[in-house]
Amino acid sequence: MVATGSYRNKSAFYGNIQKYFYIFDWWGKNNDNDLTGSNMANNNLTNAKRAKNDEFYTQYGDIQKEIEAYLEYDPSVFRSKVVYCNCDDPFESNFFRYFVLNFNKLGLKQLITTSYKPSPVANTQLELFGDDKTLPRSKGRPKINANRFIINEVHDIDGDGEFNLKDISQQLRTNKHNEWTPLEGDGDFRSVECINLLKQSDIVATNPPFSLFREYVKELFDYNKKFVIIGSMSAITYKEIFPLIKNDKLWLGNGFHAGNAYFFTPNTRDFASGVYDANTGLVKFRNVCWFTNLDHGRRHQPLPLMTMQENLKYSKHKEIKGKKAYDKYDNYEAIEVPFTDSIPSDYSGVMGVPVSFLDKYNPDQFEILGSNRGVDQDPNKIYGKGSYLNGKEVFKRLFIKHKRK
Ligand SMILES: C[S@@+](CC[C@H](N)C(=O)[O-])C[C@H]1O[C@@H](n2cnc3c(N)ncnc32)[C@H](O)[C@@H]1O
Repeated sequence: MVATGSYRNKSAFYGNIQKYFYIFDWWGKNNDNDLTGSNMANNNLTNAKRAKNDEFYTQYGDIQKEIEAYLEYDPSVFRSKVVYCNCDDPFESNFFRYFVLNFNKLGLKQLITTSYKPSPVANTQLELFGDDKTLPRSKGRPKINANRFIINEVHDIDGDGEFNLKDISQQLRTNKHNEWTPLEGDGDFRSVECINLLKQSDIVATNPPFSLFREYVKELFDYNKKFVIIGSMSAITYKEIFPLIKNDKLWLGNGFHAGNAYFFTPNTRDFASGVYDANTGLVKFRNVCWFTNLDHGRRHQPLPLMTMQENLKYSKHKEIKGKKAYDKYDNYEAIEVPFTDSIPSDYSGVMGVPVSFLDKYNPDQFEILGSNRGVDQDPNKIYGKGSYLNGKEVFKRLFIKHKRK
């Protein structure tokens, strides 16, 4: 994950680059739990740092926009379903808020939410409900627990004519058809009690801890769940994730507006100018996306393309326009296509395209063959090794082919 911002001068840029790497480290690369041997001594510290750096909260509008894309494609996608938000403290999570406020509209059977005890903001109620003052604050220092919330029914119970979080709060407190109980453990999504709740659910929706993304996705597949979750685009080429994309078991969701994702954060430190906005409390990331196995309309829209000759003659990209031919890689039989909109419509061979192609990927139009990152992705050991042009390694690429009918 690379947070974005602007710099007034070079030294500010270089000063901030370290911060970028710090952020990138946890949301991009540092997703393995591979602390072994001598690293164990640093484990607690690392975990504490990791926990802090996992605290980014999704905005209500982003969740609403994403879920509406699935509803547009299939209005009954959530009907009679049990939705589970398993990394969500209802006091801070807009996933909980969205699904509880839209419970009847979506036709949900049940909403299950579990919170995570080690979260630095557990039970503290951030300002994430915007200016919604309806939810009463608890008096004194709240006892920190991981909690389980089970919502079976929602309606306006205080008679003010609208259903809102106050109604939910009252229903939970009086335990009417809904349940608010402490978990025995810390609410880790990998714990037995959370897995038991996962087993009861149909669709998982959340923004999980970025540092545990691989494990998180594995668990969803182990239990054969439908899901809509947020993650770093870096995950696309992880060796655990890429085969799922290639085999059409996981794909990108509808997406954040203009590819920019803004999250609330309680950690106001360390962000470069233009990344954290003190007025809104939001931090901006460019390489975050939705991952899902629910269908939506955008992935069935064909990408409009020009032929190879048209691209070479008229492309808006100087890297293509005026060339005699597309470049071919040194180490295997494929052409380099540096921009998704420059994919030639009439080329039948293998093409290397930027990872951002996935945002436009239509499985009826293209077949994904491999990527130039990671290992063990291609049984023939061709892809996954790096791709070179004139001796120079190119950026991350996916290898694709047109599907011919
Ligand atoms: C990126 S934040 C997103 C929070 C919330 N889902 C949202 O979208 O606003 C990830 C959340 O996962 C929680 N978390 C971290 N490790 C966890 C674990 N092992 N099991 C469950 N939750 C965890 C963190 O406390 C944090 O609140």
